Amino acid sequence: MRHLIDPSNLTRDEVDTLIEQAEDIKNNPGKYADVCKGKILATLFYEPSTRTRLSFESAMLGLGGTVLGFSNADASSASKGESVADTIRMISCYADICAIRHPKEGSALVASRYSQIPVINAGDGGHQHPTQTLTDLMTIHAVKGRLTGLTAGFCGDLMFGRTVHSLVRSLAGYEGNKFIMVSPKELKVPNYIRDESGCQIIAESENLEEYIGQMDILYMTRVQRERFFNEEEYVRLKDSYILDKEKLINSKNDLIVMHPLPRVNEISVEVDSDPRALYFEQARYGRYIRMALLMMLLNAAA
Ligand code: CP
Repeated sequence: MRHLIDPSNLTRDEVDTLIEQAEDIKNNPGKYADVCKGKILATLFYEPSTRTRLSFESAMLGLGGTVLGFSNADASSASKGESVADTIRMISCYADICAIRHPKEGSALVASRYSQIPVINAGDGGHQHPTQTLTDLMTIHAVKGRLTGLTAGFCGDLMFGRTVHSLVRSLAGYEGNKFIMVSPKELKVPNYIRDESGCQIIAESENLEEYIGQMDILYMTRVQRERFFNEEEYVRLKDSYILDKEKLINSKNDLIVMHPLPRVNEISVEVDSDPRALYFEQARYGRYIRMALLMMLLNAAA
C-alpha cells in the first residue's frame, strides 16, 4: 500500500508516468470510464477547498467509482474531539482510498500511520500540497514540453504557501532548473525547503519587475490569511504584489503565468485574457492528474 504525503514519495519516473497517463486520460476519457468501478474515495476536508476536493471527486466519478466524505470539520466528529488517527481508522472501514486536507502540518502523515487504505495529502497547513504539484508539473510539461532547464519565479507568500514548497521541492529534482524568489522579507521561503530541496536560487528580491524578464514560469501566490497570527500584519502584506498587464511588458513572450488559485488580488483580471495566463487551464489539468494518481494508488489499469 502506497501513500502520497510529500512529493518525495514519488520517484521522477513515477511522476513522468503519471503525467503520461493523465495526458492519455485527457485525450481518451472513455477508455477509463470503468477502471475504478466499485471503488470508494473518501474526501476528508477539515479546511475549505474548491479545486482540490471537487477535482478529486470528479476524478473518481470519471473513473466509475463513488465518493463520500465531509467538506468541513464541523460536519464530522472532529467537532466532538475525535482525533485524525481515530477518524482514519473508521474511514478505512468505509472507503478504498482517501484524500485528506487539514490545517495542521503533519496531519496527513499521522493519518497514513493509522490507515488501512492509501492516504493522499490534499494540503496540510503551510507544509505541503503534493497533488497541486502534480497538477503544476503536468501544466508545465504540456506547455513547455519539458521539466528541465527552466527558470521559475515564485512570487508572493513563499513562507506559508504550501504549493510553493511542494513545487520547489519537485522542480529542484530536474536538471538545470533555477529559481527566483520574490516576496516581502517577512514571507521568504523557509530555510528547510531551501536546504532539503537543494534548489538553485539565482536571485531573491522584493522587486518582481526587476526579475520578471528572466523567468520562463511565473508562479503567483495568494498571501495565506488563514496562517497569520496577526490580522494587521496580513492587511499590511496582502497586496504586496498585484500582477497586471504593465508588469508583464518586459516578460518573455513564452512566459507562463501560473497560480494554484484561489486568487484574491494578486493577479489583476485584465491578465486573464493574456495568452500567457495559464491558471484556469492549470486547474483543469488537476482532474486528469488526480485520475492518474487514483489509478496508480489503487493499482487500477485501463
Ligand atoms: N489550489 C487549491 O488547493 O485550491 P483549493 O483550496 O480550492 O482546493
